Amino acid sequence: MEQSRLLRTLLLLCLLVVSFGRVIKLKHTDELPVYNHTLAKILVEYNAAVYESDLTELFTWTCSRCNGMTKGFEIIELIVDVQHCLQAYVGVAKDLNAIIVAFRGTQEHSIQNWVEDLYWKQLDLDYPDMPEAMVHHGFYYAYHNTTLRPGVVDAVKRAKKVFGELDLLVIGHSMGGAMAAICALDLTVHHDMRNVKVTTFGQPRIGNEAFASYYTHFVPNTIRVTHEHDMVPHLPPYYPYFRQKTYHHFPREVWLYNIGFGSLVYTVEKVCDRSGEDPSCSRSVMGSSVLDHLVYYGVNLQAETWNSCRIVSGPHLVRFTTTDHAGNIILSKDPGFTVHSRGAVLGETANVS
Ligand SMILES: *[C@@H]1O[C@H](CO)[C@@H](O)[C@H](O)[C@H]1NC(C)=O
Ligand SMILES: *[C@@H]1O[C@H](CO)[C@@H](O)[C@H](O)[C@H]1NC(C)=O
Repeated sequence: MEQSRLLRTLLLLCLLVVSFGRVIKLKHTDELPVYNHTLAKILVEYNAAVYESDLTELFTWTCSRCNGMTKGFEIIELIVDVQHCLQAYVGVAKDLNAIIVAFRGTQEHSIQNWVEDLYWKQLDLDYPDMPEAMVHHGFYYAYHNTTLRPGVVDAVKRAKKVFGELDLLVIGHSMGGAMAAICALDLTVHHDMRNVKVTTFGQPRIGNEAFASYYTHFVPNTIRVTHEHDMVPHLPPYYPYFRQKTYHHFPREVWLYNIGFGSLVYTVEKVCDRSGEDPSCSRSVMGSSVLDHLVYYGVNLQAETWNSCRIVSGPHLVRFTTTDHAGNIILSKDPGFTVHSRGAVLGETANVS
């Protein structure tokens, strides 16, 4: 009697241990973002388009970058924060079964100046409701204190209402990558959105290790692409001996670098470890190049002209346009509604800023 009870208890314990182990393991594989090369190449095209300054061509998806793998995309909201020189769009890619939110990098000064300033950015803002998480205020406010946040959240909600549960792909390059991450965190934590997936290109560090770990908990499905000697992912600096006080990247980095054999050069795409600061990825080289920052997968990620927040918009988009008291512009339309751009109308573009 006693013995069989003991045996049963033991058996139960074993079962518990086994199933507990399995649960933990399942959760682990669940949280491992899978790098998809094909998707990354499509998303970098979407990211290049957000650098377009001709709002008509962008809104009607007829720009030179709105072709090829991104054909058939439907923008439902284009947000231009003229005050802070920021730009983002939200739209639906039916072939990917996804809503795409794309953020542009900084355009305000020369890229060289912006990169140099990154070095000095302090961890100066406690991230709300996440004890011990700290970020640089500039990254946080560029999304939270501008027209971008209400514009993006509203558009994503509208798209979901029409198309139902789609994947939510949030992307950004450079400063736009930092905003993409902060936006994805906001959508997940404050707007209860599921299936949020982030891909960033040449993104700077945003916050400390506590922030990185909250971020990974809420937005595990994140791929952070870095390229060769791109300086920006090395900034603001990481000091491995001051883990409490230093900036810290979140995972999962994918480092693109070239291997050359004489005239034969090919690109390796290294999927890095879970730490966020894999010493064998981009950290294994000097961050010494601005040029490597501006080209990902062979795609140019910059506006035609720097140092300008020039906005060009055609008159026939007036009915889709809202301008606030500060001059910020939102172009918005219902999902499913097609805006045609005719050459004649496009020819009449006017400078509205
Ligand atoms: C990678 O992404 C592409 C484009 O969305 C998709 O067609 C393909 O099935 C994906 N591959 C894997 C292995 O998930
Ligand atoms: C938030 O934005 C407003 C308006 O642009 C500005 O006056 C204020 O200083 C900003 N706050 C922060 C903390 O950046």
